[in-house]
Amino acid sequence: MMLLSLGACGAAEPDRHLSAEAAAGRDIALSRGCSACHGDNGEGGVGPAWVGLAGSTVVLEGGRAVVADTDYLRRSIVDPEAEVVAGTTLTMPVSVLTDDEVMALIAYIEELR
Ligand code: HEC
Repeated sequence: MMLLSLGACGAAEPDRHLSAEAAAGRDIALSRGCSACHGDNGEGGVGPAWVGLAGSTVVLEGGRAVVADTDYLRRSIVDPEAEVVAGTTLTMPVSVLTDDEVMALIAYIEELR
């Protein structure tokens, strides 16, 4: 259902150009509930913003800093408890996702610069 709106004029995010994979990732984020916490356009909410996340330095609980590269994004999605962003009070739930879905989500987050 969500896929039908892809690329249509007046879609949720007309000002951001996304690759096909990233656009699929955006739809997965919406349909899998990620957006409820990370915002419809990745702008953040009760969870951290995705806009500007890729390539940035994230400070984790305990003070360690990591660069948000592809591997970090993957771990954050498939094993959210492994590295927890400092200062967050909410626990991110584990979602059951296929590899393709995870790759599309990462592509989306990486294009939210
Ligand atoms: C119930 C709210 C909630 C949902 C739903 C949720 N998250 Fe999160 N997410 C969080 C919180 C809170 C954090 C920060 C704590 C942590 O690192 O686990 C986070 C962290 C992240 C991070 C790392 C952010 C950073 O700044 O380093 C990524 C990437 C991420 N989530 C992706 C996803 C994806 C993809 C989904 C859907 C499959 C999802 N999240 C669903 C709340 C949520």
